[in-house]
Amino acid sequence: MKKAQDHLWWQKEIVYQIYPRSYMDNSGDGVGDLKGIIQRLDHINDLGIKVVWISPIYPSPMADFGYDVSDYTNIHPLFGTMDDFNKLLAEIHDRDLKLILDLVPNHSSNEHQWFLESKSSKDNPKRDWYIWKDPAPDGGPPNNWLSVFGGSAWEFDETTGQYYYHAFLKEQPDLNWRNPEVQEAMLNVMRFWLDKGVDGFRVDVMWHLIKDDQFRDNPPNPEYTENKSPYDKHLQVYTTDQPEVHDIVSMMREVVDEYDERVLIGEIYLPIEKLIAYYGIDNKGAHLPFNFQLVVLPWDAREIEAAINKYEGALPPDGWPNWVLGNHDNSRIATRIGKQQARVAAMLLLTLRGTPTIYYGDEIGMEDVFISKEQIQDPQEKNIPGIGLGRDPERTPMQWDDTKNSGFTKGEPWLPLMKNYQEVNVKNQWDKEDSMLMYYRKLLALRQNEPALMVGDYTPVYTEGNLLSYIRSHSGKRFLIALNLGNSEEMLDPNIHNLKAAVITSTHIKNEGKTLKDSIRLEPNEGLIAEITDYP
Ligand code: GLC
Repeated sequence: MKKAQDHLWWQKEIVYQIYPRSYMDNSGDGVGDLKGIIQRLDHINDLGIKVVWISPIYPSPMADFGYDVSDYTNIHPLFGTMDDFNKLLAEIHDRDLKLILDLVPNHSSNEHQWFLESKSSKDNPKRDWYIWKDPAPDGGPPNNWLSVFGGSAWEFDETTGQYYYHAFLKEQPDLNWRNPEVQEAMLNVMRFWLDKGVDGFRVDVMWHLIKDDQFRDNPPNPEYTENKSPYDKHLQVYTTDQPEVHDIVSMMREVVDEYDERVLIGEIYLPIEKLIAYYGIDNKGAHLPFNFQLVVLPWDAREIEAAINKYEGALPPDGWPNWVLGNHDNSRIATRIGKQQARVAAMLLLTLRGTPTIYYGDEIGMEDVFISKEQIQDPQEKNIPGIGLGRDPERTPMQWDDTKNSGFTKGEPWLPLMKNYQEVNVKNQWDKEDSMLMYYRKLLALRQNEPALMVGDYTPVYTEGNLLSYIRSHSGKRFLIALNLGNSEEMLDPNIHNLKAAVITSTHIKNEGKTLKDSIRLEPNEGLIAEITDYP
């Protein structure tokens, strides 16, 4: 078995996602910025987290809060200057941390120079950089493709009499990745940042990059119900996960491989069997196709166990696993499953085999914040209101201390803060024995100090009901992880006769240090990590 030191940094370390608008505002305009992130790097460093991924910081009209890029090789003045970026990168590297940028190659902003040229006339050299089609015979859109953010995915352009395709907002036209010039331009964007020294990319909507070249209609989704997004009316058979997407991913990987030890992460919402194809042939695709099982599955021990085992079984040889618990597009974990279970979830995330990604604020147990109608910012909620698709609740400012606006800004925050910030904040929780932050600190330290937890083998333990259990092992050291995903007491009989183990960490501090023998009693909402001392 490979030793810990033979693993690469992106296999051993923990990824921390920063939503830059909400992390720390240094300028006082109510929106977070790069200087703010620099100010708070010690928080990340002190947690023992080594990899920082920052959501987009490029110039953008902010129709989709930075996921509509109008210049791929610059910094939005709202976030600072290129000098600030250089400083951030240097400060990150000085601390021996890594920086991952968000790359948004599927679509640009409609204000990007490329699109302005493309739409200027049918014979503009950049016309084919985007996806233009003639109207259907009745003058309507060329086919039935829908936008993720509501309505048709086709927008009519009066000047040239054609429609362009946008998988998201009409302000986010999709680039035509079948065009070699587009490929070259975006690969050069990657080289621009890699030359500067960034350590890798999280590629936005990787599975969207190529669409059917015959533009066939998507079939109806037989499982669609009214409470779902209208986008779910169709099965995305011809708009996403096209076979040719893998050629594009491998091109991106080749660029990343021109540099040493950089990482390519893909945002991909697909079932396991389709997801794993993004590792590519001979693992020459994405290093880490994001695995969102813990975000999309119901919080149910049996479903999660099945997903873990399916994933472990489906991974290609040498394909490195990864797990995500939350991000800027989904309700926060503490809100989704409750505060007590959020601790169990953190233990799961940090003891499963593979690279974990933590969403900023989850380490202090931040919850979704109620957003009134007047406060709504997210275009998804504006376009498809009232069915819970809004993403503002999980994008609210980081809670640093108990001063005004929790120390996030001296101005008016762009989104409201949680009412409980005077209690739920970094300063207050740092040294408090029973706080979420202290609990995270303990878990993080344990994971990073124990090769068995960091890179060790994973062996499932048979469980029933609300229990989930497995063993992580490396070089003769073994840890039993037992998690109670329910709120009643449970008994675990790990079927290991004569097992003896000592509890190292528990969600219930009083149980730490306890010795376990044969069967194990778990309190409601308890998760524990025990070192196996005697294993027949
Ligand atoms: C990704 C981003 C999301 C964005 C969308 C369009 O899913 O995570 O925030 O709205 O892509 O770029």
